[in-house]
Amino acid sequence: MTSSTCLTPQMFAGKSVFVTGGSSGINLAIARSFAEHGAAVAICARDADKLRSAIAELSQAGDGQALGFVADVRNDGAVRAALESAAHQHGPADVVVCGAAGNFMVRAEDLTPNGFRTVVDIDLIGTFNAANGAFEQLRATRGSLLFVSAGQAFVPFSHQAHAGAAKAGVENLMRNLALEWGRYGIRCNSIVPGPIAGTEGVRRLAADVGEEAWADMVPLGRFGTTDEIASMALVLCSPLASFVTGTTLVADGGLALTGSGRFNQALERACS
Ligand code: HXC
Repeated sequence: MTSSTCLTPQMFAGKSVFVTGGSSGINLAIARSFAEHGAAVAICARDADKLRSAIAELSQAGDGQALGFVADVRNDGAVRAALESAAHQHGPADVVVCGAAGNFMVRAEDLTPNGFRTVVDIDLIGTFNAANGAFEQLRATRGSLLFVSAGQAFVPFSHQAHAGAAKAGVENLMRNLALEWGRYGIRCNSIVPGPIAGTEGVRRLAADVGEEAWADMVPLGRFGTTDEIASMALVLCSPLASFVTGTTLVADGGLALTGSGRFNQALERACS
């Protein structure tokens, strides 16, 4: 294997990476992994306090040049401004990870139009805003887009009508951009994390079902770790995946193989 076809400690040295929603959970782990592998990393998030603490962590992991921008992905102007500032300091993005997401558990009949719209706005429109705002940079670098998706995009999960619809849109947007932007050398892929320990998503989704019962539904018998998702993100955005575009990498311990039946039943029992 040559250095361009295997993961090396500094394989993202000289590369500029931007992660939306990068102040916590899976997205922070992805940003940290890129920083650890030499990239100049920038993140955006809504909460200034969480952003500050993430930047401190990322600066320690990398070469101290991590950047943070307060920006809500629903605000296309704010995301575009953050992407432009990051490019000004780090150079045009080689990798853009669209990870910002919002979610809550609610029965479809109790979901208000504004609740539905809010999650679609963050997950789907926010993903488009970041991809669209990054296009010129990615065209210049022949870079890579990575969307953080979810199993709900493919299989309906109870209490997840809004998130499932939004993530299904994210998946189709990913394939559409891969199709249209391949001519510019831009690759676009998505990653589907299963239940990942310690994340806000799992905390919200497992509040009723219970973490133990849920872990038992995963063929590998446990939740994943944020680092396990970050490793796959590195691979997908690296030269190892240079001919991979329009694909979905499922890193869920096998959960998709079992469907959502047991989750839905456990939820119905817990909520009845
Ligand atoms: C029912 C709810 C609700 C709940 C909010 N809403 N929480 N409805 N049950 N638990 C409704 C509100 O009533 C309101 O509708 C609308 O949603 C907007 O709520 P706001 O609080 O005004 O929105 P906002 O302040 O913008 O906050 C966005 C949020 C919030 C998504 C609602 O939870 C948030 O900021 N989340 C970010 C963190 C997060 O969710 N992390 C987990 C991501 S995990 P009305 O009609 O009353 O005005 C994840 C991975 C899982 O996404 C993948 C699944 C696909």
